[in-house]
Amino acid sequence: MSTEGVNQGRRLFLVGATSVVGAAGAVGAAVPFVQSWWPSAKAKSAGAPVVADISKLEMGQRMIVEWRGRPIWILRRTPEAMASLKAIAAEGALRDPESQETSQQPAYAENETRSRKEHPEIAVIIGICTHLGCSPLYRPDVAPADLGADWKGGFFCPCHGSKFDLAGRVFKSVPAPTNLQIPPFYFMSDNVIKIGEDGAAA
Ligand code: FES
Repeated sequence: MSTEGVNQGRRLFLVGATSVVGAAGAVGAAVPFVQSWWPSAKAKSAGAPVVADISKLEMGQRMIVEWRGRPIWILRRTPEAMASLKAIAAEGALRDPESQETSQQPAYAENETRSRKEHPEIAVIIGICTHLGCSPLYRPDVAPADLGADWKGGFFCPCHGSKFDLAGRVFKSVPAPTNLQIPPFYFMSDNVIKIGEDGAAA
């Protein structure tokens, strides 16, 4: 084996490698040019609406889907939970019981249940605390030891103790300044929700 032989082999290898890179470079240059006319699939999907099937969501249950990188809670509230929304508002315990803060929900959710009128028992809420962005815990249990005898079910933020009812309405005297946000959504059918669009009957 000679040193020259090695060098000769290496030279041939480099020539071959350069040719391959050259070919790949030509293809690579063509693709971005074509793609630059269209939004990438990733950019499209980042803001795209999501569809949720709620047919298996039982009374009192919550499911979570992701929209624009954020957790979206979907709840099917029990009749007792619906009654608790009225009771909590009547006690004067909430900061914005009728959702007057217009930035926190679409117009069709500016009501006591913060839902669409076709299905008031279904809540669709962005699961991010309006204080500093933690994700509150789902606590539908009534009068648990850690939240007190007055607790009628809701969401509790473990970061700094903010409390929200089962419509995402914030209680008074907690750090979170506003109700949890409601995303745009509509019912494509009784069991299918599209999140991210208002639908035709907004
Ligand atoms: S982030 Fe929820 S209370 Fe501070």
